[in-house]
Amino acid sequence: MDIPYSRVQLAGNEDRYLKEVLESGWLTTSSKALQFEKSFAGYVGAKYACAVNSCTAALHLAIEALGIKEGDSVLIPTMTFTATAEIVRYLGANPVFCDVEYDTCLISPKILRQAINRNDNIKAIILVHYGGHASDMYTPDGKGIMDICKNQNIYLVEDAAHAFPTKFEGRYVGSFGDVTCFSFYANKTITTGEGGMLVTNDEAIYNRAKIMRLHGIDRDIWNRFTSAKCKWEYDIIAPGYKYNMSDISAAIGLAQLEKAEYFREQRQRCALVYFSELNDISSIDLPVFFQSIEHHAWHLFPIKIKPGSPVDRNSFIELMSEKGIGTSVHYKPLHRMTYYKETFNLNSNDFPNAERIWKGTVSLPIYPSLSDVELKYICQTIREILS
Ligand SMILES: Cc1ncc(COP(=O)(O)O)c(C=O)c1O
Repeated sequence: MDIPYSRVQLAGNEDRYLKEVLESGWLTTSSKALQFEKSFAGYVGAKYACAVNSCTAALHLAIEALGIKEGDSVLIPTMTFTATAEIVRYLGANPVFCDVEYDTCLISPKILRQAINRNDNIKAIILVHYGGHASDMYTPDGKGIMDICKNQNIYLVEDAAHAFPTKFEGRYVGSFGDVTCFSFYANKTITTGEGGMLVTNDEAIYNRAKIMRLHGIDRDIWNRFTSAKCKWEYDIIAPGYKYNMSDISAAIGLAQLEKAEYFREQRQRCALVYFSELNDISSIDLPVFFQSIEHHAWHLFPIKIKPGSPVDRNSFIELMSEKGIGTSVHYKPLHRMTYYKETFNLNSNDFPNAERIWKGTVSLPIYPSLSDVELKYICQTIREILS
């Protein structure tokens, strides 16, 4: 068997939409990107969407539009990819790292309250919906993450790189915080090869992000070349970035979006096999989820190898690889990464849950084309290695 960690799944209409773009003669940001933005915003129930070339770009634009600046503090979970934190440094602001819950790898309302009590000038939080499971956004008694952010005047940016399509209490992630950022990187739940989307209900944030994604030009390039008057003329209102999504990527994105729920159901099928086949193996912890199973995007299926298990995490990964099964690790926490550790003087003792998670965590393959035969083989191999 040769089972990679990730496999891209084409949705069906990619060829058709790409052909339309190629035949139109306009390859960069234009009508397909616009169509993708409209469809995506409609899907998650947000007013505005801004298509960009990565989730990293979307996150950068999000905090820039919120006015985060040099010296500001932005709360971030240590259990995330470096993109979540690096964009804070782009603006000269400081990431303040916090721990996550052991079971879910998420920031909980309790962790958020504790972090705010310890750091009194947090301007924003970047919430990561780890693995595709929504964080605890609100509660009937007003004690969820959105409630806390609102009460404390803290901006809420959601890093939803893993969380499309994800729901909390029946509402899609993308319709909650000040800004939400999605990733369409090649191994994500839908892909454009490289790509991302910023969504918001705030017109001012949208307008700023739209301008800053293309050099700070005051009108978008498509308008410049299609409007009848003063085609050449434009102004620069800020030193912006080059983050726009091409129509080539958007064509792929549109096709992928059409199958997003089917892809999610297929990943859920994989998750259900893992739950039923692995639940009696005492040396591992399976993922825990509190929302309904249909509300989870199932981007990741991370298991945790417990201390005292027959093999440790690294040996497990090697043995799986010898059997032809690819795995991955999400994540080596940022407080262990040299740059963040040394720059912000971080100590592992301050992140006990992330330490426990990181020592045992390993992500199993989970994607629509993973067959039942492959899933069975993966489960049997895990059982052999851990018994
Ligand atoms: C949690 C998280 N945030 C942000 C990113 C960045 O996404 P992109 O590669 O689209 O910039 C990733 C990428 O894997 C991620 O896992």
